[in-house]
Amino acid sequence: MAQKDAKVIAVSNQKGGVGKTSTVVNIAFGLARLQKRVLVIDSDHQGDATKCLGRKDYEQLPITLYDMYKTIMEDNDFHKDDGILKHEEGVYFMPANLKLADTELSLVPAMNREKILSVYVDAVKGSYQYSQHGSIPAMGNAQQRSKCGAGGTGESLWRG
Ligand SMILES: Nc1ncnc2c1ncn2[C@@H]1O[C@H](COP(=O)(O)OP(=O)(O)OP(=O)(O)O)[C@@H](O)[C@H]1O
Ligand SMILES: [Mg+2]
Repeated sequence: MAQKDAKVIAVSNQKGGVGKTSTVVNIAFGLARLQKRVLVIDSDHQGDATKCLGRKDYEQLPITLYDMYKTIMEDNDFHKDDGILKHEEGVYFMPANLKLADTELSLVPAMNREKILSVYVDAVKGSYQYSQHGSIPAMGNAQQRSKCGAGGTGESLWRG
């Protein structure tokens, strides 16, 4: 029987240092302990979730969310497992590092730029039971991407 698509959860707040990353990572470990197949998508250029998941070498990783965004923007194909790492306690993750900040500029002229994370999520969610991503502490396109990535429209951002 085919596995259902993952339940996708966005953890988002405009304020910094309020526990977004800690929430994402702790829930992920909890789900993994319950034998759930869970993917954390680190969508913050600070790479904090990637560091929490043990990759202190996050700035040297060959494939990060930046590369997946670039691939999608250039309309190139990718495999759903490309770049995904696994923590020894069973949590899968797509890492991020400072390069992700570059996408903010290159996404400015892109059509449907708020949908880019949801394009990535749609491509990978068939392989997991849960997918979670945090967002950077800011209003703007990153928050919109985060909400769209979890199946929302991003509209609430503009309602205040
Ligand atoms: N429940 C908690 N109790 C006490 N400290 C916590 C708790 N959750 C997180 N912290 C601490 O608060 C700090 C900020 O947490 P975290 O990095 O998860 O926040 P964030 O919202 O993701 O930050 P940023 O906006 O920079 O991405 C960290 O030092 C973390 O260890
Ligand atoms: Mg964080």
